[in-house]
Amino acid sequence: LGDKLWGGRFVGSTDPILEILNSSIAIDQRLADVDIQASVAYAKALEKASILTKPELEKILSGLEKISEEVSKGVFVLNKSDEDIHTAIERRLKELIGDAAGKLHTGRSRNDQVVTDLKLFMKSSISVVSTHLLQLIKTLVERAAIEIDVILPGYTHLQKAQPIRWSQFFCSCSGPCHAVALTRDSERLGEIKKRVNILPLGSGALAGNPLDIDRELLRSELDFASITLNSMDAISDRDYVVEFLFVATLLMTHLSRLAEDLIIYSTSEFGLVTLSDAFTTGSSLMPQKKNPDSLELIRGKAGRVLGRLVSIITVLKALPSTYNKDLQEDKEAVFDVVDTVTAVLQVATGVISTLQVSLLSSYLLTDRCLCCVLQMPFRQAHTAVGKAVHLAETKGITINNLTLEDLKSISPLFASDVSQVFNVINSVEQYTALGGTAKSSVTTQIEQLRELLKKL
Ligand code: ARG
Repeated sequence: LGDKLWGGRFVGSTDPILEILNSSIAIDQRLADVDIQASVAYAKALEKASILTKPELEKILSGLEKISEEVSKGVFVLNKSDEDIHTAIERRLKELIGDAAGKLHTGRSRNDQVVTDLKLFMKSSISVVSTHLLQLIKTLVERAAIEIDVILPGYTHLQKAQPIRWSQFFCSCSGPCHAVALTRDSERLGEIKKRVNILPLGSGALAGNPLDIDRELLRSELDFASITLNSMDAISDRDYVVEFLFVATLLMTHLSRLAEDLIIYSTSEFGLVTLSDAFTTGSSLMPQKKNPDSLELIRGKAGRVLGRLVSIITVLKALPSTYNKDLQEDKEAVFDVVDTVTAVLQVATGVISTLQVSLLSSYLLTDRCLCCVLQMPFRQAHTAVGKAVHLAETKGITINNLTLEDLKSISPLFASDVSQVFNVINSVEQYTALGGTAKSSVTTQIEQLRELLKKL
């Protein structure tokens, strides 16, 4: 028990299997930098509260600086007995500066220390995720601008529905995902940042700080926007963790749907897009294969991220107030999701910027044009065209290959201008209303997305 921060009241030793389960150092060593940062701020506040003398403060700061150097050089040695990163840094500080190190923890608890560290970590990692997300959105929008004249079939129920501009798919105003939906994810990340940006340090174990510590000094030293209002809430609160995991899950769900679309479109059956070699892999057995592993991994990782959200919200459900060791689970989830989402966003950007889209050769659809051409109410036109589709099917041809005679046998109102209907450009250009797939409307979407990007 000798090395333990809390060994004094114990006589018997900890069971080795509990030591293993209890230890979080393998995970939370990643917080070393921010833990040191928070300790520097706390030491300054202790000196201001006259708990540390100036020379003691100098000693502690130089010791912490030395540890920081060791961490950045990768030579900070962890001991087997270091329960977590807070313990390890305090142990090392004592080795370096002696007993003065023992004063640093006065009035502080690992409970407020760990949330301060996690919030500091999350502040910077949410910014990293946001930057990669913006890069992906920009890539989608710029491709949408360049390839605005490419027309593809649009699907509902995975059945060909109406022709759309490829750019409309990338911008997807109301669809499942893509640029517009991703801008919502970016806004959500910004929202979470506001709640992460509240300083918990100075809340102690649960009741607050007994030294009248200057929390405003801590706030400005650590660059938080404000200070938590209630000490019990401050150390108990993991809402921002859940929010981050949820936003990441929704973002991954959007990316997974985009990935699924592209996996399907890249099959030889659909043949709409070709993925670049850089983002595909081959088969050890079948030489013809070019597999969309990048997209499958994005889809798979969405499941992993959702799992992290479910695990943490389950840990929190029915957890008594303030700190309970269950909370130690939070960091592994946050780190894993930050790493996963960061990698996935970069892969998605790579896939989108390198894939090739096939030009639509011949493609036909029956749509609203028909009522204009047929000059009959929409419902009747729909029935007439349905019959034409059926007739074409029984003849084993496509509808645009039916003769005018064939069509006139269905309705005498069919005339030679029916050929207009089979022109895909005519088709997409009728959707001029806001959010539609006509060139003017897609151009507006692209312009608005570019404006939105400037604000994100
Ligand atoms: N390693 C702990 C965690 O990650 C730090 C807080 C420990 N607090 C305590 N009262 N045991 O949550």
